[in-house]
Amino acid sequence: MSAYINPNLLLDTTGIEPGHVVWRSPSNLAIIKYWGKYGVQLPRNPSISFTLANSFTETILDYGPKQTDEDGIDLQMEFNGTEDVKIQQSTHAFLQKMLPFFPFLNQLSLKIRTANSFPHAAGIASSASGMSALSLCLCSLEDRFFGTLGDPKTFDRKASYISRLGSGSACRSIFPYMSLWGEYRPVEGSSNEYAIPMEDHIHEVFKGYHNAIMIVSSQEKSVSSRAGHALMEDNPYADARYRQANERMERLLQILKDGDTQAFCTIAEEEALTLHALMMASTPSYTLLHPNTLKMIECIREYRAQTGHPVCFSLDAGPNIHLLYPDSIKEEVQLLIDSELVPLCERGFWIKDWVGEGPEEL
Ligand code: PMV
Repeated sequence: MSAYINPNLLLDTTGIEPGHVVWRSPSNLAIIKYWGKYGVQLPRNPSISFTLANSFTETILDYGPKQTDEDGIDLQMEFNGTEDVKIQQSTHAFLQKMLPFFPFLNQLSLKIRTANSFPHAAGIASSASGMSALSLCLCSLEDRFFGTLGDPKTFDRKASYISRLGSGSACRSIFPYMSLWGEYRPVEGSSNEYAIPMEDHIHEVFKGYHNAIMIVSSQEKSVSSRAGHALMEDNPYADARYRQANERMERLLQILKDGDTQAFCTIAEEEALTLHALMMASTPSYTLLHPNTLKMIECIREYRAQTGHPVCFSLDAGPNIHLLYPDSIKEEVQLLIDSELVPLCERGFWIKDWVGEGPEEL
């Protein structure tokens, strides 16, 4: 949507007072997965995710009049309290790409301080929380200077659009509880360019869902998501996969509306394993699953068969298990976590997380 390109967003440089904006933004977990893209971070199929609560990034953006005559982004950056060259470079490159959308960034000196709630070495992708927190800061800045994003819906849509340009799935972190990203005809307003809120389409039971993240390995992934998406282009199952994602979306939306937690288990696990099957079926083939991932899967399925409790797993592009269950069985599931799953986690590490209310300006 080139409507967001706006060369008029320029400041009268004589009146810039230093200031800052701060956002806390969560990660998200897709139930129908986005895997395969085209153009500039546009998805090959629609996806839908839970917005998390406890895994978040907090970003402080300090700004003031530009201190240099050089053209381009002037940025200082701190990650978890220290300078990190890699993160500084990728953030600088992202902000440089953002100049057509926020040309006033060229008139400022920026300092970004960012930190995650979860340990850097947890093996959890921070791109969704990180890119959404930064995009929200940029939108707040625009609104502060120009008053253009006062309407919350307008604000969120632009924040989602900008987040998508940073990291596709980040666009879904903007909204409470659940978000849908990607054109899906039956849902009015859905778009490939930004996510939309799904709060009004889901049963209360899913708003209280737990999402415990069992850390099987904190090692950096051997194949990045970027490379994984690219491998979908030559994957012989790609077309069938994109069709399947649309069919599953139809089934899942009904399940989410009905509050059918058992049917939810089936589809969440089918999707998680499909994602990893696509990786195994890529050329070259690869897998991000670890032996303990499979042990946990077996354990969770056995527990469900024995107890009838609607507890299931999902997976991101990595070996860590996301354990999903309704609030009504949290005590029982805690016993499963403590006795069966924690011993399979790396150094016993896991993160208590749950479905959350979305980003917050601090
Ligand atoms: O947003 P990316 O490019 O990191 O891709 C994320 C893809 C998955 O996490 C595997 C699935 C999803 O929809 O979040």
